[in-house]
Amino acid sequence: MTKIAIWCRHENDNIIGIGPNIPWHIPSDFKRFRRITEKSCITCGQTTYESFPNRTLPNRKIYVLSFDEKYEVSDKDNHFVINDAKKLCDIKEPIYVCGGASIYKMFMQNDAPEVIVDSCYHGELNPSLSGNPVDITLCIDAMYEGYEKISPDYNEDNVTTTVWVKKGAVVEDEVLKHITLSIINK
Ligand SMILES: NC(=O)c1ccc[n+]([C@@H]2O[C@H](COP(=O)([O-])OP(=O)(O)OC[C@H]3O[C@@H](n4cnc5c(N)ncnc54)[C@H](OP(=O)(O)O)[C@@H]3O)[C@@H](O)[C@H]2O)c1
Repeated sequence: MTKIAIWCRHENDNIIGIGPNIPWHIPSDFKRFRRITEKSCITCGQTTYESFPNRTLPNRKIYVLSFDEKYEVSDKDNHFVINDAKKLCDIKEPIYVCGGASIYKMFMQNDAPEVIVDSCYHGELNPSLSGNPVDITLCIDAMYEGYEKISPDYNEDNVTTTVWVKKGAVVEDEVLKHITLSIINK
C-alpha cells in the first residue's frame, strides 16, 4: 500500500484549520483535492470526517479513524471506522491521508507516507472564524528533512502545490502520474 499525505497549509505558520474549519475558501483547491482523491481510498480523523458536507465525500472509500468503537458513519457501504490505525496496513490500494492535524502527525511520526502533496496557501486567513489554530509545523519540518521535491511548483489562485517523495522510497509510476495529471488537468 502506498500512503499519500495531502494537505493545504497556510504559508509560514503551517495552519491547516481554525477550530473545526479550514480558514480559507478556494474552490480550485477543493477541486484539485477531489481530482486527486476521487475513486480512491482515503483516511481521516473523526473531526475532519464530521466537517465534510453531510459527512461524506462522493466516490471515495473513507476509513474514519476514531477510538470510539460505537462511532457511526453516514454511509455504511463506503465508510469504515478504524479504531486501530495499524489495521490500515491490510489495505492493498494507495490510500490518501487527508488529516486533520492529529492524523498527519501520527503518520509522519510512525508510518511516514511515501508521497506528500503539499499545497501552500499564500493569502489571508478568514478573520471571522473563532477557535484554536491547528498547525502541522512538525509535519512540514519532517517533510523538508526526509523528503525530496520531485515536481515543479504548480500555482493556481494563490496556492502553490508541489509533490514530495520520501528519500529512498520506491513509488509506482502510476501513482505519481495520477497525482501529477490530477494537479494539472483543471
Ligand atoms: N487544510 C487541510 O488540508 C486540512 C485537511 C484536513 C483537516 N483540516 C483541519 O484539521 C482540523 C482537525 O484536525 P484535528 O487534529 O483536530 O482532528 P482530526 O485529526 O481530524 O480528528 C481527531 C480525531 O481522530 C481520532 N483519532 C486520532 N488519532 C487516532 C488514532 N491513532 N486511532 C484512532 N482514532 C484516532 C479521534 O477521534 P475520536 O475522538 O472519535 O476517538 C480524534 O478525536 C480542522 O481544523 C480541519 O478543518 C485541514
